[in-house]
Amino acid sequence: MEKTKSYWLESTPATNYPTLDKDISVDVAVIGGGLAGISAAYLLKQEGLRVAVLEADRICQGTTGHSTAKITSQHDLIYAWLDKEFGRERAQQYADANETAVKTMADIAKSQKIDCDFQWQPAYVYTEQDKYVEEIQKEAEIAAALGIAAEYVQDPGLPFAVKAALRFEGQAQFHPRKYVLALAQAIPGEGCEIYENTKVVGIEEGKINSISTDTDKKIRADKVVLATHFPIHDALGFYFARMYSERSYILGVRAEGKLPEGMFITAESPGRSLRTQAAEEGELLLVGGEHHKTGAGEEEPHFQKLTEFVRSNFAVSDIPYRWSAQDYTTVDKIPYIGHIRKGKENIFVATGFRKWGISTSTVAALIIRDLILWGNSPWQDVFNPQRGFSLKSAGKLISINADVAKELVAGKLAGSDQGQVQPGEAKVVPGEGTKIGVYRDTEGKLHKVDITCTHFGCELKWNSAERTWDCPCHGSRFSPDGSVVDGPALKPLSVPGGEESGVDPDII
Ligand SMILES: Cc1cc2nc3c(=O)[nH]c(=O)nc-3n(C[C@H](O)[C@H](O)[C@H](O)COP(=O)(O)OP(=O)(O)OC[C@H]3O[C@@H](n4cnc5c(N)ncnc54)[C@H](O)[C@@H]3O)c2cc1C
Ligand code: FES
Repeated sequence: MEKTKSYWLESTPATNYPTLDKDISVDVAVIGGGLAGISAAYLLKQEGLRVAVLEADRICQGTTGHSTAKITSQHDLIYAWLDKEFGRERAQQYADANETAVKTMADIAKSQKIDCDFQWQPAYVYTEQDKYVEEIQKEAEIAAALGIAAEYVQDPGLPFAVKAALRFEGQAQFHPRKYVLALAQAIPGEGCEIYENTKVVGIEEGKINSISTDTDKKIRADKVVLATHFPIHDALGFYFARMYSERSYILGVRAEGKLPEGMFITAESPGRSLRTQAAEEGELLLVGGEHHKTGAGEEEPHFQKLTEFVRSNFAVSDIPYRWSAQDYTTVDKIPYIGHIRKGKENIFVATGFRKWGISTSTVAALIIRDLILWGNSPWQDVFNPQRGFSLKSAGKLISINADVAKELVAGKLAGSDQGQVQPGEAKVVPGEGTKIGVYRDTEGKLHKVDITCTHFGCELKWNSAERTWDCPCHGSRFSPDGSVVDGPALKPLSVPGGEESGVDPDII
């Protein structure tokens, strides 16, 4: 099976920031070096604060390095929903925050002379189904009333027929790693630093917070920003119960003929997302979609469906890139940005971006900067992680947690696989009172792990596309050797010893 690779990672150099090798004290510790963390650290440094970014791996290799990277306040259809569920004032805050973020990113790219393929583009939501036409009309009306340059159009310029589309002017696309790596370069110095391969393993809250890392060195920080995609510190905020994780797939395609101008996404499911990207070997068409809950079913068919879609609509000559990633959605669709919990004034969170975290990472950086410096932000209410939720959101909360309970039970009852494990294949086999995930890599080496998730104990499922063990409950992911790829889990999987593992030698 073909390995996945992100165009963004393939087309940029690896970074090499130092690992934390001494205890330090800073004003703000930013945990996580994706777009949210690096943007927050950059803005805070501009204000004269001493900031340390702590990154478990290398910066910008997580979700940001696997995004479609549209910079837009158009988050599929959201404004009519916000207006109806939360009222005009909150809808206005959401619109203002995201429109400001688009402009802020454009300003930063321009003022810092960042060569990140930044390009202004209109953003479209389109539909091929009659039932979404009215929704699109309504969305255009509300978005325009909120001051967005939005209009209802019938032909967005795609090479296939659509029923209707919503167009937002003044939106953009970019190369996310070129932007983040350049922003990161501006951080070290004047008491600021980026530390890579420095995983945070615990936070002891206090007037001065004490942060432990896997390097055994500690950071003392007045303020802590959790920009780890999923907050690795919960502080009784119950984030795991209020969000769910969905994976999506992207193809980087070369096609003959003129590609559509603009950025596109469907109103309906299964989602389809399109944008172009200039590349040295020729322009790419990025085709995304096929989202589903993490750990639910096979991955390969989703790549196949995207391939069928693009081949039936474009003259495809090659598909040199394909990758997948996941993002978290909150019960009411609005991200959680602000104080992690009431009374925890020194710890901030930015999560639940619902696959719109490119503009929202900058929204988060702006809000958190304002809260740290001035104690308030004009957009704090709509994103407040402690906001109450509506009846509809309560329904979603119940269904998310019912799914988790179902997975916990189903995992314990599920059967095991039979037969030998072939190279590139994984199987689940019985172990001593647990289940063992056995993966044989392409060189023939066997990797065995206990597939009980170290977060809350759900049983992991094999992701054949990314070659990871994925958790259907809250989206943690682990490599074949058990190390954490995505949180909320912090601890690696346990690795059963040879004979004591109880694994049937005939199977492996
Ligand atoms: C397929 C897909 C397409 C998308 N397309 C778009 C789009 O077109 N437009 C848009 O607006 N949004 C899009 N998004 C969403 C957007 O990409 C994400 O919301 C955003 O990149 C998240 O940024 P982040 O900084 O929060 O997370 P990340 O980029 O994942 O960064 C988090 C970092 O935290 C680090 N970390 C985790 N735990 C620890 C720890 N214990 N210690 C230290 N570091 C830690 C990780 O290693 C990682 O580097 C898409 C998402 C997906 C999945
Ligand atoms: S991520 Fe919560 S149980 Fe696995």
